[in-house]
Amino acid sequence: MLLHLSGTPNPKQRAFFLAKARHIAYGGARGGGKSWAMRRKFVLLAFRYSGLELLLLRRTLPELIENHVRPLLAELGGAATYHSTRREFLFPNGSRIRLGYCDREADVYQYQGQEYDVVGLEEATHFTESQMQFLTTCNRSVRSDFSPRMYYTMNPGGVGHAWVKRLFIDRSYRNAERASDYVFIPARLTDNPILMQRNPGYVQTLQNLPEHLRRAHLDGDWDVLAGQYFPEFSRERHTVRPYPIPRDWRRFRAMDWGYNDPCCVLWFAAAPDGKLVVYRELYLKQTLSSEIARQVRALSEGETIAYTAASPDAWQKRGLGGLEGQSIAEVFAKNGVPLLPADNARIPGWQRVREALAEEPDGTPNLSIFESCRNLIRTLPLLTCDEHNAEDVSAYAEDHAAEALRYGLMSRPHPSRAVLPVPVPRYDPFSTVGSKPNGYCGL
Ligand SMILES: Nc1ncnc2c1ncn2[C@@H]1O[C@H](COP(=O)(O)OP(=O)(O)O)[C@@H](O)[C@H]1O
Ligand SMILES: [Mg+2]
Repeated sequence: MLLHLSGTPNPKQRAFFLAKARHIAYGGARGGGKSWAMRRKFVLLAFRYSGLELLLLRRTLPELIENHVRPLLAELGGAATYHSTRREFLFPNGSRIRLGYCDREADVYQYQGQEYDVVGLEEATHFTESQMQFLTTCNRSVRSDFSPRMYYTMNPGGVGHAWVKRLFIDRSYRNAERASDYVFIPARLTDNPILMQRNPGYVQTLQNLPEHLRRAHLDGDWDVLAGQYFPEFSRERHTVRPYPIPRDWRRFRAMDWGYNDPCCVLWFAAAPDGKLVVYRELYLKQTLSSEIARQVRALSEGETIAYTAASPDAWQKRGLGGLEGQSIAEVFAKNGVPLLPADNARIPGWQRVREALAEEPDGTPNLSIFESCRNLIRTLPLLTCDEHNAEDVSAYAEDHAAEALRYGLMSRPHPSRAVLPVPVPRYDPFSTVGSKPNGYCGL
């Protein structure tokens, strides 16, 4: 066995090694020696404390292997035994570094009920806030010689930009969060002399980026959110205090089905001038379809709802969240909430959301959202562009409320065509379950 722990930490990395707060973040820009620091800190902790449980996460498996599994195998040179099926390094003193990834939103639940003294999120902005919150619950320790700690490395941009910025850059805390628990050690490329020497062209590459990306990646400027999908969304313009919806406004619902991922139901009302308001949301995780249907009905008590557009998977998914052999749509119908398949064309759907957010000649947008729809308001500004298709939303985003919004908007006639009189078909919920949404948008 031959350890290859070469290199000496630079001053920023040293500060990261010495920090002892509950939440310690490092980096904030490209090339500051983040992955090196995270890996080395984990190895040092594993050797220093016997029987320490450490969990190191990246968002995807290929990134994890490239960034950590391979380098750790080389650096540890057999000083810790690697179990590839469990993806963990076992140290002679009983310490264990487990390496994991959370590709899908729900992948974090595989750590449910587990306890780690140390949890590390590499590229923390690739994780959603709810993933981070869930992982915090796994960061527990019964030891007397060590208090649980979370380590984060990050660059600006990505689905988690907002929560990382709030906690470590803006230092704005809510509820039980305490400022003294959060430490941020900023590091840029210029703090990493090794990379500057080995790859002097890298600075040039970063300097040649378009201005907003250069500011984010080279200067570590967190106020430029690279890749935000709906930069036009603004709490000020798009949210309103709840008010009583007039009885003659047409109401409908849209749902993005989910069991492990949250299920989101939105309630819409259309004013006579065609403007829409989202006036209620239901956002529930790991809840049976029959229970969601029951709650949807209870919340809609006394209201006339024209239809409920739902994600097409409600007709495909059985089992989880449904009843044996029945699709989610069948369970909903049996519980008094007949569903209609939503138009799932993604790019035109997102385009429709964008149009609804845009300002109309009267100075207000076509869509407003009640302040009480917390999850829709929280997640809409966090959506980022897909890395490979800038026209689409990243699959990593917490997009359930946005998807329900898209389905709801797509169920309406297109605004530019709305002036044409649309023949109004009679709506018979039971005859249309599972069929094409043929014309129901005109209701
Ligand atoms: N203290 C150090 N000693 C030796 N090499 C280092 C040190 N810090 C970083 N490096 C090397 O610099 C390069 C960039 O570091 P890395 O941690 O991958 O940066 P980042 O994750 O911030 O992009 C890597 O090749 C890494 O091994
Ligand atoms: Mg890195």
